[in-house]
Amino acid sequence: KVLVFDFGAQYGQLIARRVRDLHVYSEIVPCDITAEEVREMSPSAIILSGGPASVNAEDAPLVDPAIYELGVPVLGFCYGHQITAVTLGGTVFHPEVGEYGPATLHVEGGALFEGTPTDQTVWMSHFDAVRDVPEGFTVAASTDVCPVAAMENAEKRIYTTQFHPEVKHTEFGQQILSNFLFNVCKLEKNWSMDNLVETMTAEFREKVGEDRVILALSGGVDSSVVAALGARAIGKQMTCVFVNHGLLRKGEPEQVEEVFTKQFDVDFIHVHAEDRYAELLAGVTEPEQKRRIIGTQFWKEFFAVAQQLETDGKPVKYLAQGTIYPDIIESGARKTGGKASTIKSHHNLIPFPDGVSFDLIEPLDHFFKDEVRELGLALGLPAHIVYRQPFPGPGLAIRIIGAVDKEKLEILKNADAIVREELDAYNERLFEETGERNSEHSCWQYFAVLPDIKSVGVMGDERTYLRPIILRAVESSDAMTADWAKLPYEVLGKISSRIVAEVPGANRVCYDITPKPPSTIEWE
Ligand code: XMP
Repeated sequence: KVLVFDFGAQYGQLIARRVRDLHVYSEIVPCDITAEEVREMSPSAIILSGGPASVNAEDAPLVDPAIYELGVPVLGFCYGHQITAVTLGGTVFHPEVGEYGPATLHVEGGALFEGTPTDQTVWMSHFDAVRDVPEGFTVAASTDVCPVAAMENAEKRIYTTQFHPEVKHTEFGQQILSNFLFNVCKLEKNWSMDNLVETMTAEFREKVGEDRVILALSGGVDSSVVAALGARAIGKQMTCVFVNHGLLRKGEPEQVEEVFTKQFDVDFIHVHAEDRYAELLAGVTEPEQKRRIIGTQFWKEFFAVAQQLETDGKPVKYLAQGTIYPDIIESGARKTGGKASTIKSHHNLIPFPDGVSFDLIEPLDHFFKDEVRELGLALGLPAHIVYRQPFPGPGLAIRIIGAVDKEKLEILKNADAIVREELDAYNERLFEETGERNSEHSCWQYFAVLPDIKSVGVMGDERTYLRPIILRAVESSDAMTADWAKLPYEVLGKISSRIVAEVPGANRVCYDITPKPPSTIEWE
C-alpha cells in the first residue's frame, strides 16, 4: 500500500484518489506520523502532499526525518517537495514572485519524467521555492521562474516536484505518478472496487464491534451506499430509518423499501410521517419556513426511533452518515488526517435532544461522488439508486410554490414522473451515443415545479382553468453553477404533450431557461 501524508487542508485526498485510479491501494495518514509507525504499516511507497503552510514558518508541520531512511521510496509534491529539501539539508527561499497556474516545465531527465516530453505543462501554486537541493540530489526539471521544479535522489529513491501532478491541469500528471508507482516502486495494479468493498466492510465491522448503528436513510446515493455497506458488515445490527415525509417523488418510497427489505439485510424502519408533515405544512408559504419545519420534524421522527430502540433494549452507539469528501471541503476542512471525531458544522444542525449523543461513523468521507457510485455498484445497489440525481431534503415541498396540499402534491408527482421518464430516456440515448454518463449535454438534474397560479386552456370543447407545470432541466457538474439544458424541441414537445394529456389538473407546460447564477436550480 501507498501512504499519503497529508500536510493539511485535505491536500492528500486528491492524491489518494489518483493513486486509486491507477489501481493501487492508498491510505491517508497525518503528516506527523513517526517513522516507527510508518514501519509498522509496512508501506511500499510514501507520498508527501502539498499543504497551505510555508516550510520556513515557525509552526510549519514537520516530517520525521527518519522516514527518508526507511528504504521506502518517497514522492513529494509542493509542500512535500520543500519539506524534503529542508529536512535533508537543502534550502527554501521566498522569491519576489510566486507562481500560480499553468507553467512550462523544462525536463532535464529522471525517472519521474520517463516517456514524457522535454517541455510540458504543469500546474503550479507556490510562493516559496527550493534554492539548494540537499546532498545526493540532482535537479530533474525547472521552469522559467522556479529553478528546482523537480529533484531526485535516485539512489535513495526520493523524488519530489514543486508542481502538482495530482491536478488535471498537469498534462502528464498521471504518467508521472505511474512512473513512480510502477517503475520506481515496482508496484502491481492489484487494487479494485471489490478489494475496497472487502476492506471497508472489515473496517466497518471492526469499528462498531457488537454495538448498534443507526442511519438516516434518504434513498439518495450516499446514505444508500452506507446502508448497503452496513448491511454487508453488520446486517441487522444496523438500523436504517427511512422517514417518509410524503414529499418524495412518485414511486420512490416503495423503491427504497423494496431495496432495503428484499435485497439488503438491515433493520429497516419505514416511518410513515406523511400525515404529521401535511398538518405541519398546511398553509405555510414561505420557503425557509417550509425548510425549517421539514428539517426539525425529520430529526424528531428520527430520534423517536432511536429512543424506541433504547426502550426495546437495543441502545444505539453509532450514528452512520453518508458524508462524502466534497461535503467536508464545503463545511471547512477537518483536522488533518481526517480522523477527528467532532461533528462537522453542517451536522451541528442536528438538534440532538438533551443527553443524546452518538459516535460518528462516516465510511465515505475519503471519497468523491463518482467513486461512491462505483462503490454502490460493487455493493450491488441498483442503478436507479446509484445514478439518482440530486434531490433536496425538503423534497417536493420546495417545488410547490406557495402552500403544499395533497392535490398539488398529486399533480406535481405525476408531472415529475413524466419529466423523469422522458429525460432519463434522453440521457440514456446520449450515453449510448457518447459512452459517457455525464456527457456535455446530458441533463444533470431535471424535475417539474408547480407554481401557485392557474391559467385558461381548452381541452376538447371545454374551457379549462388549471395549473401550469414548469419544467426545469439543467446541465451542471456540482450544482454551484448550472445552465439550462438545450433540449431538442421534440423532447420538449413530448414532455409537454404527455403532461397535458396524462396529468389531471395541468393544462400548460413552460420551460425555465435561466442559468444559475442569477437563478438557482430549485425555485425555492
Ligand atoms: P440551488 O437551488 O441552490 O440548489 O441552486 C443547488 C443544489 O442543491 C439542492 N438543494 C438542496 N439539497 N436540501 C438539500 O439537501 C435543501 O434544502 C436543498 N435546496 C437545494 C438542489 O436540488 C440542487 O441540486
